[in-house]
Amino acid sequence: MRTGKTARALAAPLAALAAAALVLAAPVRAAEVDVKLERVEIDLADLPSLQSGARTYVNYCLGCHGAGLVRYNTLLQLGLTEQQVKDNLMFTADKIGEYMRTAMKPADAKEWFGVAPPDLSVIARSRGPDWLYTYLRGFYRDSSTLTGWNNTVFPNVGMPHVMWHLQGERIRREEPVMRDGKEVGDGHGGVLKKVTFETVQPGSQTPVEFDRTVRDLVNFMVWMGEPAQTKRKQLGLFVLFAIGILIVLSYLLYKEYWKDVH
Ligand code: HEC
Repeated sequence: MRTGKTARALAAPLAALAAAALVLAAPVRAAEVDVKLERVEIDLADLPSLQSGARTYVNYCLGCHGAGLVRYNTLLQLGLTEQQVKDNLMFTADKIGEYMRTAMKPADAKEWFGVAPPDLSVIARSRGPDWLYTYLRGFYRDSSTLTGWNNTVFPNVGMPHVMWHLQGERIRREEPVMRDGKEVGDGHGGVLKKVTFETVQPGSQTPVEFDRTVRDLVNFMVWMGEPAQTKRKQLGLFVLFAIGILIVLSYLLYKEYWKDVH
């Protein structure tokens, strides 16, 4: 069948294009430094953990980072009632069907932080849960930066430590590694240093509690980035629909061209 062939010949490159577009929609930024990431257990069936993560996200992150691909009513899937979502989680919208946007204007954000805080709807897909877990627990005091904070996996990050009163304040110490009373070389002409972190001001949570808070938050961010939770699923369906229309059109065109030939 020639018509089938036309459609198939057309569908393959279009599908490839669509796939490429979907891949490009989630840009991947490599981790800036080579730091050992700490592992975090993700459990998308753990509803209390996801609820706690959603609460932390709304209270500590949404002020700067939107989750513009996720609607508030998606949070109902976490076992919450509409009233609970409206009362406790919905601060940047009037209707529950609206997307989780940040209240901050991008231009202001750029001015305040030098760089606009990115939307975090699908951040867990590009960075991965372990990176997020290590990053969010990796802030320490550094008077040389604009915000007064630095980060172990994202050096000179433009984001301040927003959960500092939960985790407390830490400072970074570097000490030369000594062997037999002598400094040890790092193999590049420098001195091998041991890096440690010291808590100079405890937070309102113990280290174990804070790990739990961040784990729940990362769990929520992974959940949020699942295709079922974001607009990307709709986008995929739209692309398939558009391809379908194109195939029909090309078939009609094909008929039209060959109509008089036989
Ligand atoms: C006061 C504003 C502000 C708040 C609140 C805030 N952030 Fe940020 N965040 C930023 C800025 C600015 C950047 C961009 C940093 C850069 O590129 O240097 C950023 C970057 C990030 C990144 C890295 C994105 C990338 O480039 O891959 C992650 C992840 C992130 N924030 C997560 C969070 C989470 C989770 C919370 C809530 C606990 C949060 N942020 C709260 C301002 C904020």
